Amino acid sequence: MSAALPRSEHGSRVPGWYLPEEPAKEPAGVPAPEQVAVPPALRGEIEAHLAAYPERRSAIMPALKAAQRHYGWCSPQAIEAVAAVMELTPAELEAVATFYDMLETEPRPRERHDIFVCTNISCSLRGADALYEALLAATEGQESLNVRSFECLGACELAPMASIDGSYVGPLQREDIPTLLDDLAAGREALPDKQLARRPCADPAAREPAPKKGSGSRTTKLLFAGIDEPGLATLAVYRSRGGYEALAKARAMSAAEVLEQIEASALRGRGGAGFQMGKKISFLPKGAAEKYLVCNADESEPGTFKDRELIQKSPHMLIEGIAIAAHAAEIERAFIYIRGEYERQADILEAALQEAQQEGLVGAPGGEERPIVVVHRGAGAYICGEETGLLDSLEGKRGNPRLKPPFPAVQGLYQGPTLINNVETLATLPRIIAMGGERYAQLGTETSTGTKIVSVSGHVRRPGNYEIELGIPAREIIYGLAGGPPEGREVKCWFPGGSSSPVLTAAELDLPYDFDTLAKAGTMLGSGAIIVVDDATPIIDVALKVAKFYAHESCGKCTPCREGTRWTQKMLERMAAGEATPMDIEIMASAQENIIGNCLCVLGDAMAMPIGSIVRRFRAELEEQIESARQRAQGAVA
Ligand SMILES: Cc1cc2nc3c(=O)[nH]c(=O)nc-3n(C[C@H](O)[C@H](O)[C@H](O)COP(=O)(O)O)c2cc1C
Repeated sequence: MSAALPRSEHGSRVPGWYLPEEPAKEPAGVPAPEQVAVPPALRGEIEAHLAAYPERRSAIMPALKAAQRHYGWCSPQAIEAVAAVMELTPAELEAVATFYDMLETEPRPRERHDIFVCTNISCSLRGADALYEALLAATEGQESLNVRSFECLGACELAPMASIDGSYVGPLQREDIPTLLDDLAAGREALPDKQLARRPCADPAAREPAPKKGSGSRTTKLLFAGIDEPGLATLAVYRSRGGYEALAKARAMSAAEVLEQIEASALRGRGGAGFQMGKKISFLPKGAAEKYLVCNADESEPGTFKDRELIQKSPHMLIEGIAIAAHAAEIERAFIYIRGEYERQADILEAALQEAQQEGLVGAPGGEERPIVVVHRGAGAYICGEETGLLDSLEGKRGNPRLKPPFPAVQGLYQGPTLINNVETLATLPRIIAMGGERYAQLGTETSTGTKIVSVSGHVRRPGNYEIELGIPAREIIYGLAGGPPEGREVKCWFPGGSSSPVLTAAELDLPYDFDTLAKAGTMLGSGAIIVVDDATPIIDVALKVAKFYAHESCGKCTPCREGTRWTQKMLERMAAGEATPMDIEIMASAQENIIGNCLCVLGDAMAMPIGSIVRRFRAELEEQIESARQRAQGAVA
């Protein structure tokens, strides 16, 4: 979470609020609009955001972002301006601003370059930590360069990568640093050859030699075939390839008939929990007051970058899917909550949405067409991927998860029944309607139907997104498609569904990659993000990366998560520093058991499950590493 507002020299957050020697001030409240001079352009922007939502508070995040762009940061003046236009108190806005990483609550130089180096697990496995240190050293003392280590930015195929003034760049090597700094100093685009935006095609097979015949490779494009076609993000090209025909077909059917097709497909959610979409829709009360559809495009589970590629290349496929889902569930208003770091993808999505709205395919706020679709940009917080944290965030609050039940299908956005689905889940609907639910269900396995986009990263030769039929052996994905670990290396372990999934070992590479097999093996398919770790990587480094991430991202609402994640991180740091004994492994393992199932949402579990699995599967190696760290530390003292 981001830092709090700067404290005054007296240490009080609100200067002079309780210090007797300062003159008394008016109590903080809603500033009278006439007292605050809000620049007209900013006022206009905030008012436009207000018009996009049925409830004013939802415009807080976009309004704060607009004010930040105007004033350079979320300064007290910026907050007052937003408060005046939105008729809220500055305190309400501060509470939101201090939660999100991308809302800056400390002054920043106007002319500053942001270099955010991803040091999360997939980038770290490919040298991000050393790169970050080298960048820090090379930029020391340069105030105009803001070099920060960042959590997963959702572009692990570029690892190690960085976001430079919002543009994704990678893979980065230390040798790139001088050119990068020269580019920034000269006001040029940074490392143009390494910009994600300039890649003609992010298909990994197009960058690296294709796997040899007989290596067990399969086609990587099945239902999403054609996604690499240039221009597909435009309505004209999308339509020329049959785009929006499925929507027309769905609209010619009744809502119940469309739902039947979705149920027949047995499509399971692609965002993490794997819950059947058709069932979720059927939980929504019929004929209730306004219902909502929310597309979860927060994509922040480390190792996952499929939604980013889908949105970037085929935003209309998602919009069409949303319109189909809205028809099946009889919903008139939809929001796409996209993570704040995906600025480029959000721009592409908004442009596509505008085209679709102009053609009357979906509606815009204030218009007649339905469903109304609005893109809502997040501001940097992993927890907002969790569906109830996302809902709070969309309502203009801090992204704290809610107690469940009630589940969102009963009481979600603005307390109304809400259908929440992942980007990939929704983007699959046009194919399901086009081919028929039953035919779709023939793909994959009986209980894990269809295809899945798998993001493969870490120690593989061809990191990237691959579409696979569910149920193929994991070995085919890791070795056949992604090329396996580099020459001379073997797989030590792999996360099958993002960094929150319990790890599996090389002995489990032949497991069919589907929801139920992985659950039986004690892990989960999750978001379909496979992170491969080779045998040269100390397991303690992997555990520490995982713990650090969840400790950083815990929203702090419940004690087992807030304390447990930090405590686990500290334990692992002690182990790595040679200050622990093998008995500490036991203590750490039992702490994980006390976190699992004891938190409001599963963020705590998301750390405890992989850490628990690492202890179970790699205890001997952990013991060895604790011992060798102790010897090193003692040697250093002697
Ligand atoms: C801590 C946490 C983070 C999550 N992050 C995401 C995310 O980034 N994207 C996503 O689609 N689902 C995420 N989920 C799962 C959502 O809560 C929810 O199950 C999902 O959006 C439902 O969509 P689906 O049924 O289509 O998978 C997360 C869950 C948890 C507990």
